[in-house]
Amino acid sequence: MNTQTFDSPIAVAEAAAAQTIQLLTRSIERYGEVTWVLAGGSTPNLAYEVIAEQYLDTVDWSKVTFILGDERIGPLDSPDNNWQDIENLLLRHVPEATFLRPFSDLAVSEAAAAYETSLATLPQTSDGLPRLDVVWLGMGPDGHTLSLFPGHSDFNPTDTHLVTPVEHSPKPPAERISLTLHALHGSQNVIILATGEGKRDALKDALRSTSHLPIAQAAQVCSNTSWLLDEAATP
Ligand code: 6PG
Repeated sequence: MNTQTFDSPIAVAEAAAAQTIQLLTRSIERYGEVTWVLAGGSTPNLAYEVIAEQYLDTVDWSKVTFILGDERIGPLDSPDNNWQDIENLLLRHVPEATFLRPFSDLAVSEAAAAYETSLATLPQTSDGLPRLDVVWLGMGPDGHTLSLFPGHSDFNPTDTHLVTPVEHSPKPPAERISLTLHALHGSQNVIILATGEGKRDALKDALRSTSHLPIAQAAQVCSNTSWLLDEAATP
């Protein structure tokens, strides 16, 4: 368990950006291409901005495929849309990249099935899963990650799909699609970003090896997982 604590959210963002650029470069050198799973929510936004400001000329973005870990169902121009936020912060600066944007303006089950089909086009691991070279994850104060919420009927740790519909998210909006824990078994490198004292209690649980919180289960799936925290979030 690689846990790194920084003195502020911007320091977390700068570290996440620097480490991600290294991982992207290493994957491109090894495979000739790289898949980066973007994280929704607000925490990663500072890091997207740092990359857009400081690293645009350090990566061959034509070798990068962007996918999104989870997305809210609704109009693509909804203020809730994760992809739209990241597009404004980073993706519009790298038009030469490949973008697999969720079809989040479909009905939730159709959107999940459509994204599952999209992800099947990605390079695969020896286990036949999409190879997720770099995965960013956020986490909620309840220990959720992606749109996998603890104790909820929509969270099935044994689900063998890559993408699941979520219809009763306790975090609005209610309808989402999300990568599953099964999909995360294709992760090669995971960076978890968590800042603010609101995450501290969940982190106290999640950093225990016996934790069953979704963020803990996601972290345990990949041996190359780094937790990037600020002092306020660190237990
Ligand atoms: C979402 C996110 C969600 C998020 C956490 C943390 O679509 O809501 O994927 O899982 O990462 O809720 O959100 P903040 O970073 O805004 O605290």
